[in-house]
Amino acid sequence: MTGDNQKQAAARRALDFVEDGMKLGIGTGSTAEEFVKLLAERVAGGLKVIGVPTSERTAALALKLGVPLSNLDDTPHLDLTIDGADELDAQLCLIKGGGGALLREKIVATASDRMIVIADASKVVTTLGAFALPIEIIPFGAVSTVRRVAEVASAYGCQGDIKRRCDSYGEPFFTDSENFIFDCAFGKIPDPVSLARELNLIAGVVETGLFINIASLALVGTPSGVDMIEPK
Ligand code: A5P
Repeated sequence: MTGDNQKQAAARRALDFVEDGMKLGIGTGSTAEEFVKLLAERVAGGLKVIGVPTSERTAALALKLGVPLSNLDDTPHLDLTIDGADELDAQLCLIKGGGGALLREKIVATASDRMIVIADASKVVTTLGAFALPIEIIPFGAVSTVRRVAEVASAYGCQGDIKRRCDSYGEPFFTDSENFIFDCAFGKIPDPVSLARELNLIAGVVETGLFINIASLALVGTPSGVDMIEPK
């Protein structure tokens, strides 16, 4: 299977975990979009679910395809969140945020009884960090915050370029919550658990793309099928 087929196969397998009446967190990105399309087919066939989207982009697609939506104010507790990832390791530590939605993704995932990751095989790594770690940062004082991020990261063996994300016009990218994203090209993150904890203590850091102890299962499309990965 090609990468796109792997994403679709993982998304299709995720439907096996969706039950009638569930309140579902719905992720962001190309793999999550495959899931939305397949979910919409089931909804058209009579499946009753309510989705809470993790981004405006996902909300627009789900609405267009007829998936009923809610939000965390009206539906604060979810049964299951299905979302993609930029990287995942054997412990199901994740890097997310390539699509800029990491904050809402983390809020929705942690409001859920369970998070299942769907991904193609290219996302599975031994050590996180080849994908630049996205960090959502408040615009006020961002240069100063990033300086502190670099100091803390260095103390945990992570060094590399930290760049403010831009949109396709070269203008600063703003998240759905009107913050900046800084992409940190650390190469390798030897201790993601400690790094995530310490970065979250920095004033001005809203959230990091490190998802630790949040996902309980990954469905990974491979050339020959869909692998299931659970943390050891
Ligand atoms: C969105 O902010 C990200 O966390 C996505 O889940 C991640 O970038 C995966 O995207 P793809 O499914 O497009 O690879």
